[in-house]
Amino acid sequence: MIGRIRGISGPTVSVEMAGLKLYDRVYVGHSMLTGEVVRLDKDLAVVQVYESTKGLGIGETVKGVGMPLTVRLGPGLLCGMFDGLQRPLERLREEMGPFITAGREIYALDYLKKWSFHPLKKKGDEIKSGEIIGYVEEGTFRHFISSSRAGRMSWIMGGEVSLNEAMAEFEDGTGIFGCNEWPVRMPRPYRKKLAAREPLMTGQRCIDFLFPFSRGGTAIFPGGFGTGKTILEQSIAKFSNADIVVYVGCGERGNEMAELICEFGLLKDPWTGKKLMERTILVVNTSNMPVAAREASIYTAVTMAEYYRDMGYHVLLLADSLSRWAEALREISASLEEMPGEEGYPTYLASRLSGFFERAGVVETLSGKTGSLSMILSVSPPGGDFTEPVTQGCLRTAGVFLMLDTSLAHKRHFPAVNWFQSYSLYEKELSGYFNEKVSDQWERLKERCKEILQREEALREVAEIVGSEGLQDADRLLMKAAEMIRMEFLCQNAYTEDAFSPPEKTLAKIREIVEYYDSSLEQLKKGVALEEIFKG
Ligand SMILES: Nc1ncnc2c1ncn2[C@@H]1O[C@H](COP(=O)(O)OP(=O)(O)OP(=O)(O)O)[C@@H](O)[C@H]1O
Ligand SMILES: [Mg+2]
Repeated sequence: MIGRIRGISGPTVSVEMAGLKLYDRVYVGHSMLTGEVVRLDKDLAVVQVYESTKGLGIGETVKGVGMPLTVRLGPGLLCGMFDGLQRPLERLREEMGPFITAGREIYALDYLKKWSFHPLKKKGDEIKSGEIIGYVEEGTFRHFISSSRAGRMSWIMGGEVSLNEAMAEFEDGTGIFGCNEWPVRMPRPYRKKLAAREPLMTGQRCIDFLFPFSRGGTAIFPGGFGTGKTILEQSIAKFSNADIVVYVGCGERGNEMAELICEFGLLKDPWTGKKLMERTILVVNTSNMPVAAREASIYTAVTMAEYYRDMGYHVLLLADSLSRWAEALREISASLEEMPGEEGYPTYLASRLSGFFERAGVVETLSGKTGSLSMILSVSPPGGDFTEPVTQGCLRTAGVFLMLDTSLAHKRHFPAVNWFQSYSLYEKELSGYFNEKVSDQWERLKERCKEILQREEALREVAEIVGSEGLQDADRLLMKAAEMIRMEFLCQNAYTEDAFSPPEKTLAKIREIVEYYDSSLEQLKKGVALEEIFKG
C-alpha cells in the first residue's frame, strides 16, 4: 500500500491512500516517520505522526504496514529502556548519538542473541492456544514461551536458539517462535478475572498500613506541583514486592529520568537481593519527545506488563504522570479539530481512562497460571485542583486514592499523603491477610492509629482557641502521640534508610507509639505529672 501526503498540520498529516484501516500503522515520507491512522474520510486518511514532522513535504510517499501499532514481545525486554514506540534507547544511542533522529526503526528485541530453551512439551503433544511449551532464562526469571494457536506438535527442540528461529513446529509446518507482536491498544486475552486477595507491598508505611494496595488493583495519587509524586513513584518502583515493574516516565523532566536510570543500575531489590534493574522495564517519554509518542507510551508499557502477567508474574505498572498523557491526548484531539469537552479534553477522555484501568487485575491466564497487573499512577492536576477532568476520570475507577497535600509538602511532611482525604477500597478484603500473615495486632493498631489522628484533628481546633497549655493533660498526651504518628510513622524520608519499610518494621513502629501512649496514660491516671512523663 503506497499513498501520498496531501496536507501537513503539525503532527497531523492527511494522506491520499486506499485500503487503510483505522489505527493502522504507516511510515510517512522519505525518512519513514512512524504514524497511526486516526481518521478515515472517503479517500483521505488522517495520520498522527509520532515523530517530529519538520522537513516533511507534500507529495512524499506514505507506506501502509497493514496492521496497527504493535509491540514486540519476547525475552530481552527486562532491563530494557524504551521510548514510547518501544525503540530501545541504548541501541538508538549507539547508532545515532544522544539525540534520536526521526524515522529510525530499531527493534526492541535482539533477534540474533542465543537463548537457552528448555522444552516442557514433547513431539506429538496436543497444544492448546496460549499453552506454555517451554521457557528460557531471562536473568533470574523463567521467561515462559507459549503458543498463540492450537495444534499437534511435530517437533520441539532444546538448547541454544535465537528469536528468529523456530523452537517447535506444528504438524502443518507452522513454527512456534520465542517472540511475537501484539497491538498495543488491544488488551491481551486471559481465561478469567479473579478476585484480588493479596496486598502489594509498597514499602511506604502510609500506604501499606493506612491505605493498603491490592495486587491487581489500581491506585492514583493526584498532587499539585512539588508534592512528591515523582519521588513516591520512584520509591515504589524500588521497594514494592512486585515481581516485575514497568515504569513509564510520561512527559516528565529528562533529567529526572536520567537520574532514575543511573540509580536503578546500582540498586538491589530489597525483597530478593537481586539487581533491581533485572526486574524492571523503563519506558521513557520525557517532555522534549514528540507528543503523539507520549500518548502511545502508556499502551506500549501496559502491553509489555500484560505479557509478563501472562507468564504468571505479579507485575506493577507505574506512570508519572497520567496528566501528561491526557494532555497529549488533548493536543491530538485539538489538531484533529474534534469537538472539545471539559477543559478542552476530548469527550472520550473518561472512557479512554477507564478502558486503560480495565487492563489491571488478577487473572487466570490462558495457560492456567495466576498473574496480576497492578497500576499506580500519579496525576498532576493544574493548580492542585482535584475537580479537573483527569483526576475525576481516574477517581471513578481507581481502588486507592491518595491525595497529596500541598500544605503537608510545605511542612516537608513526605510522603505528603493526606490521611483524612485518602481512601482504599481494598482495605476490607485485605484486612484478614495482614492479621494472619504479619501480626494479629495489625488491624487493632490501625484502628487505634486512626482514632488518635482523628481525635487530634478535633483537639487542634480547641487548641487554636485556648492554646495547647489550656488543654487537659490527657488531651495534651494525645496530641503528643498524634505528633509521633505523623513525624515518626507517616513521614518517610526517601533519602535515608527509612525509605523502605517492610511490614514488620511498620508494625513495630506503630506498636511502639501506641504502647507509649497507653502506658503514659496509665501513669497519668496514677498521678504522675505530665511534664515528668514527657521527660521520661
Ligand atoms: N519522601 C520524601 N522524602 C524526602 N523528600 C521528599 C520526599 N518526597 C518529596 N520530597 C522532596 O520534594 C521535592 C519534590 O518532589 P517531586 O519532584 O517528587 O515532586 P513532584 O510532585 O513530582 O513535582 P512536579 O509536580 O514538579 O513533578 C523533592 O525534590 C524532595 O526534596
Ligand atoms: Mg514530578
